[in-house]
Amino acid sequence: MRLVRSLWLTTDPVRFGTVVDPDDLKRWKSQLPEPSRPIWMASGELLTAAGKELEAQLRSLGYVVRCGPDRLADQRSLRAWAPSPLIAMIAKHWEPGTAVDFGCGGGRDAVFLASLGWRVSGIDSLSDCIDRAQGLEATAPGVHPVDWQCADVRGDYDIPQAQVYLFVRFFDLPLWTRLAESAKPGAIVAVQTFSERHRAETGHPRSDRTVWLSTTPDFGWHVRYAREKGPFLYRILQKLIAGDVNSAADS
Ligand SMILES: C[S@@+](CC[C@H](N)C(=O)[O-])C[C@H]1O[C@@H](n2cnc3c(N)ncnc32)[C@H](O)[C@@H]1O
Repeated sequence: MRLVRSLWLTTDPVRFGTVVDPDDLKRWKSQLPEPSRPIWMASGELLTAAGKELEAQLRSLGYVVRCGPDRLADQRSLRAWAPSPLIAMIAKHWEPGTAVDFGCGGGRDAVFLASLGWRVSGIDSLSDCIDRAQGLEATAPGVHPVDWQCADVRGDYDIPQAQVYLFVRFFDLPLWTRLAESAKPGAIVAVQTFSERHRAETGHPRSDRTVWLSTTPDFGWHVRYAREKGPFLYRILQKLIAGDVNSAADS
């Protein structure tokens, strides 16, 4: 299955694209890519009242809306949504294994990995998000069905064992602390959070609980990748395997 690089949005279910009700755009916000990437809408649709309304709302959120040729709903080999670039990177460099997506939202990363043969658990505290994630999975079924769980991962949540753990635009320090202890050596954690700099400049997000701070401990995990781009901080960390002195020295 080919992944379209940019997101196509539509208000019309007959057209190809992710169908969005302009009045309900807030629900979709967590699925949208960073505003630096354009969102595509079909040229014919931009002439309709609903299409114009969606375009206006996207622009008010800071998106660049580009206009392209109409696509038909039967082009099922394309997907109209994108995973986090960090998770696309994980999929490129690691063989399919097991993954847990904490705060999975509408399920873009869980469904993406499942489509590549990963065995994924997608967990979110909102049943509305799990419903949307299941809807997304139905449009792009993976090799293995995603294990969707509606649960609060804070507190005494029982952390499943996996090779890769995702914190994408969701972070919780007590959970990371427990995970750092319970994960098996070699486990990977992929983190995309807003950066401290972005928070200082914009005041968003309000709580520093959801930001990977410079004071956030790495518990001696090997930092395999660290980058700040736009509002986000991207990190991939790996728990050391006993006696793995070389990878610690590489960091
Ligand atoms: C900004 S969204 C990110 C969604 C997804 N990871 C993505 O990047 O598309 C954050 C998600 O974390 C979920 N969340 C917040 N607190 C949570 C908790 N305590 N347990 C589980 N999920 C939680 C929210 O419901 C929301 O869907």
